[in-house]
Amino acid sequence: MKIGVLKEIKPNEYRVAAVPATVMEMVRHGHTVYVESGAGVGSGFSDAAYAEAGAIIADAETVWSEADLYYKVKELFPQEYKWMAKDKILVTYIHSNAHPEETDVLLESGVAAVAYEDVEDAQGRFPLLRPMSELAGKGGFLAALHYAQSVHGGSGMLLANVAGVDAPVISIIGGGNVGLGAAELAAAFGNTVRILDVNMDAMLESKKYLPGNVSFLISNRANLEKCLRESDVLINCILWPKHRKDHLVYREDLKMMKEGAMIIDVACDDEGAIETCRSTTHDDPVYREEGILHYCVDNIPSAFSRTASVTLANATLPYVLQIADKGFKKAMEDNHLLRKGMTCYGGKLTLKETALKQDRVWTDPNELIKVW
Ligand SMILES: NC(=O)c1ccc[n+]([C@@H]2O[C@H](COP(=O)([O-])OP(=O)(O)OC[C@H]3O[C@@H](n4cnc5c(N)ncnc54)[C@H](O)[C@@H]3O)[C@@H](O)[C@H]2O)c1
Repeated sequence: MKIGVLKEIKPNEYRVAAVPATVMEMVRHGHTVYVESGAGVGSGFSDAAYAEAGAIIADAETVWSEADLYYKVKELFPQEYKWMAKDKILVTYIHSNAHPEETDVLLESGVAAVAYEDVEDAQGRFPLLRPMSELAGKGGFLAALHYAQSVHGGSGMLLANVAGVDAPVISIIGGGNVGLGAAELAAAFGNTVRILDVNMDAMLESKKYLPGNVSFLISNRANLEKCLRESDVLINCILWPKHRKDHLVYREDLKMMKEGAMIIDVACDDEGAIETCRSTTHDDPVYREEGILHYCVDNIPSAFSRTASVTLANATLPYVLQIADKGFKKAMEDNHLLRKGMTCYGGKLTLKETALKQDRVWTDPNELIKVW
């Protein structure tokens, strides 16, 4: 199959879908890989490195017109719409539920599309979201380390274990992929780390590999108040359903926090688990509410574009290879977990979430594969 790796056009997006090492694997499987010139520059990968791995370096027009499978990172932008067609395959983070115009294009063109964010593993987790979540958690701790410094407007506390000084207390709400990423770094720096979660089994599992300076608390009001009072940093890592109007941490609760304490809201749902959260950007990342510094950047991994590209490319490669090796239909038929990621095929919308949200006709992918 001819695979096309495109340069992302979203502002401030530096990631690339495939890195030279994964291009080499695709070539070894007998595929022809086109890489748009400059696609890897934002992640530190030159055209020469891709060429050495066996790719054909070409301009955007050539990649879009030659490739059978478009391998990308972000959703489609209007300039990219014209390339969608019945005989093409799109593999990327699509987020069709949030982009009705993009959904129109996908359906009208008849393109076959798979969204990273909906592919599942056998445990019902999302293997193509996990790598970015880990980076977001780690980046959240690093943001705390940065903004705690007096030269950056913080309390002047070094978030590490320094002899003769009380170790800072870092509380993490939600011990999922993001929370564990944050906990791993915060603990390695010697902080006193607390993870609050509602899932005891998950906490028992995490306890096996995290060091002794991480303790685990059931997430209830009493434990949350204790963490609010005692923490130097509160890191929020739970997904808050959009329909919920209540909060876990209310504006009023910020008065319990220590002077100089901060909130890192990695989940960054506006007025979500943290009432005072509003998402921010890398250009303008922090603000204060009730005297508490808030950091709520909604695309933390893009700050670590090279690491993000490598980890994302490693995670997506096995799925892209299944599609390229077997063809789209056979890959969907053989792997029901990859099939969960199918957004559309031949003008039929197979992602239920988007059909419900945008009031469109839904085609059950499990039925579609019997008759296509
Ligand atoms: N800012 C960014 O750049 C960025 C990047 C990646 C992910 N995220 C966001 O981070 C959030 C977490 O992602 P994840 O992959 O870790 O999710 P996850 O599902 O792996 O983890 C969420 C955890 O929260 C726990 N939880 C649920 N309700 C809770 C409660 N009331 N109290 C305490 N814990 C509770 C769950 O048991 C689970 O362990 C999501 O909202 C995601 O969209 C943000």
